[in-house]
Amino acid sequence: MADACIILSEFGGKGIDVNMGCPNHDIVKKGQGAWLLTDIGKSREIIRACRKATNGLLSVKMRTGYEKNNETYFIDFVRMLQDEGTDFITIHPRPARLGFRRTADWRLVALAKRRITIPVVGNGDIDSPENAIKQMNDSGCDGIMIGREAVKSPWIFRLTADLMSGTESQLAVDVHDIFIRTLEFIRTSLPPHLHKSRGHRFSTYFSKNARYGHDLFTRIRRESSIPAMQDAVEQYYLRNKEEAKKKYIIANGRVFEERIPFNSHAGDLEPAGAVR
Ligand SMILES: Cc1cc2nc3c(=O)[nH]c(=O)nc-3n(C[C@H](O)[C@H](O)[C@H](O)COP(=O)(O)O)c2cc1C
Repeated sequence: MADACIILSEFGGKGIDVNMGCPNHDIVKKGQGAWLLTDIGKSREIIRACRKATNGLLSVKMRTGYEKNNETYFIDFVRMLQDEGTDFITIHPRPARLGFRRTADWRLVALAKRRITIPVVGNGDIDSPENAIKQMNDSGCDGIMIGREAVKSPWIFRLTADLMSGTESQLAVDVHDIFIRTLEFIRTSLPPHLHKSRGHRFSTYFSKNARYGHDLFTRIRRESSIPAMQDAVEQYYLRNKEEAKKKYIIANGRVFEERIPFNSHAGDLEPAGAVR
């Protein structure tokens, strides 16, 4: 881990985030990811070695336990991370064994925030700007991390920032165009053996923007190449033109999604990109 920190620091990134949260079987069976939560001594050694190896930002992303949550152990663990010089931690408050089942227990984010002084970022089940602000206020955490909803609606950050700052604004989003361009980005920036898996993975989430998202994803999943996936997307929006664009309005401290008439045409709608 120390060698990895040195190599990464040479690349000049913003910081190094140690993964103590991944519950994937292939990862935990090697003693990595969330498995580290079961061994406070080993985790301490890792963070100590990383801290010696880099002067840059060093953070940890973690679950609140492996099998189940134990508040005393969890607090000992985050205190250990703080004592070893971690700059901030991100907490996804579900035990790793639960994967995404049940709901994230944000009381544990609040508890960590009260017991340690380094910044705490909360993560888990944020699916709207209102929810992001509520969880931040209720838990007192210093920041929010968004996972699944950020893949489905990357514009959630703009909406949340505007809602938080009280800015009245409008945002037009070309869902169709973003779908096509992201698949294109996967094609041009990743090696060919990853096209199928990454195209499918992105589409799992992004298809949820479509009214018949399940059908759209089922169609995409049959395809192995990016152009064929893009073709499935094109066909869908040809049949469902009124869904190609979304428009959000932030007013009176709330986010509204403008309902576009069912039989309208894409040409009637707002242009793509942010309208401020
Ligand atoms: C597509 C995808 C990839 C992820 N990759 C990582 C990862 O590399 N490292 C990590 O710590 N968490 C990863 N996560 C987990 C998220 O960071 C987050 O903890 C989890 O999704 C819960 O947040 P959510 O409820 O906002 O989705 C990933 C999640 C998704 C959906």
